[in-house]
Amino acid sequence: MTIQPSYLTDTARSRHAASPHALQVALLHLNRERLTPGTPCDDWREDILCLAQLSLREGEFLESERRAVAQQAAEAPREASAFVHWFESLREHGPGQFDPLFDFLAERASLEQVRWFVEQEVAGEAGFDDLVALTQLRLPERPKLELARNYWDEMGRGKPLGMHGPMLGRLAEALDACASDPCRIVWEALAVGNLLAGLAYNRRYAWHSLGALGAVELTAPTRAVKVVQALERVGLDGEAVHYFKLHSTIDLVHWQGWRDEALVPVLAEQPELAPMIAEGALMRLVAGARTFERYRRELSRTPAPARS
Ligand SMILES: [Fe+2]
Ligand SMILES: [Fe+2]
Repeated sequence: MTIQPSYLTDTARSRHAASPHALQVALLHLNRERLTPGTPCDDWREDILCLAQLSLREGEFLESERRAVAQQAAEAPREASAFVHWFESLREHGPGQFDPLFDFLAERASLEQVRWFVEQEVAGEAGFDDLVALTQLRLPERPKLELARNYWDEMGRGKPLGMHGPMLGRLAEALDACASDPCRIVWEALAVGNLLAGLAYNRRYAWHSLGALGAVELTAPTRAVKVVQALERVGLDGEAVHYFKLHSTIDLVHWQGWRDEALVPVLAEQPELAPMIAEGALMRLVAGARTFERYRRELSRTPAPARS
């Protein structure tokens, strides 16, 4: 394991405070180091200390994201059916919903602009399969089974070609949009992945993660439809478009399962968890809305060709 010691110095810490991008790159390293399979090494003690320091930075980031939505989340009802009604209203009125970015992508963006968008999105993708796997640890039976079904779909139901992660990878390859250098990625996109990984990895945020992943299932289809239009308009088809085509429909089913088999049973047993689930959902949607706004700003700097 190699973590750059510069992340731990006071100078680096103050730079993080001043630079959201540096913080998100540090958290990207944290998530890679603690989730990627490794081997024993002699400096494991130093590694643990490094990870602990980075985890503190992560905790500050997650708590500041949580504070931003806490008041709104506190208004969510605690009774299970009223709560899911509140949750589903986020599809229409939640942060980032129906952002004009997606009409722009669908109708006017150039190939280069679509490529840039996909590059950002792929870099901010934390791996939904792993997030589900981490979130289901020690959950009660019904939510655990629902997350297992969801995970199995992510795994292509046992068929490599149907696995969602590699499917997204094939789109990135087709577009030559596989960013290896985080300097090319806006911090807002990195923050989405770091937020989801932080919520899923740290068990104090288990219920937040359940809410955040549910919000992804709830809101992905409307955006996926627009992205399919964008990809097809710039000349992509088949395998390359399959990831977004699939998510424009399968997530409708995933949401229903998440709602009925994960959220409802949890809240029926423990209604006091409603604000945690609501915070997680809002944290994810706010982080998404922040990327859409930044993407629009960046894309407006390279004018799209006139509509044909
Ligand atoms: Fe998926
Ligand atoms: Fe899904």
